[in-house]
Amino acid sequence: MKIDTLVLATHNKGKVAEMSDLLSPFGIEVQSADDFDLESPEETEDNFIGNALIKARYVCEKTGLPALADDSGLCVTVLNGEPGVYSADWAGSEKDFSKAMKLVHEKMGDALDRSAYFISVFAFVLPDGTEQVFEGRCEGQLIWPARGLDGFGYDPMFVPNGDERSFGEMSLQEKKVYSHRAKAFSNFRKILE
Ligand code: IMP
Repeated sequence: MKIDTLVLATHNKGKVAEMSDLLSPFGIEVQSADDFDLESPEETEDNFIGNALIKARYVCEKTGLPALADDSGLCVTVLNGEPGVYSADWAGSEKDFSKAMKLVHEKMGDALDRSAYFISVFAFVLPDGTEQVFEGRCEGQLIWPARGLDGFGYDPMFVPNGDERSFGEMSLQEKKVYSHRAKAFSNFRKILE
């Protein structure tokens, strides 16, 4: 499929950086919801696919252009998958992820099982009404204290399986080897090739 322009249905600068980097080899003009001064639609679903579709449909409808949304989150085993779809909400309106990470740490208490995974669901919506979804996951362990200043969100407390560094200690290129978003993207990219 030949796509000239794609609008990323997010205002999250961390996601824009990662998704623009992943799309860079494809010669697509990448814009984001910020470029069109769009608001964020309310994420009213209780699952990643539903919320990704809400975001992509909204941006496609407002811009008349192909839209790509990512709905993602951190799912902690001993917290029965929390914060999950509510990962952004745990940081509050001030988007304080130090606070959100501390909350995860406190809720886990001294549980021996520190496992968690990041999940990303991409929704791709075209002006002709075509809709597709793609998923990627990254399994890992949560650490405390959190480490590193790179990345965004919960990155400093997450160490992907197969490495000893947290995502917060990795560059964009290093995180890409493991990340849930890169995995969702590798499923999505097949339709661009
Ligand atoms: P949403 O998809 O906009 O609802 O928000 C997902 C939230 O999950 C983000 O605000 C982050 O808190 C968290 N999250 C998703 N992906 C990542 C990641 O790659 N690193 C760290 N946190 C992430």
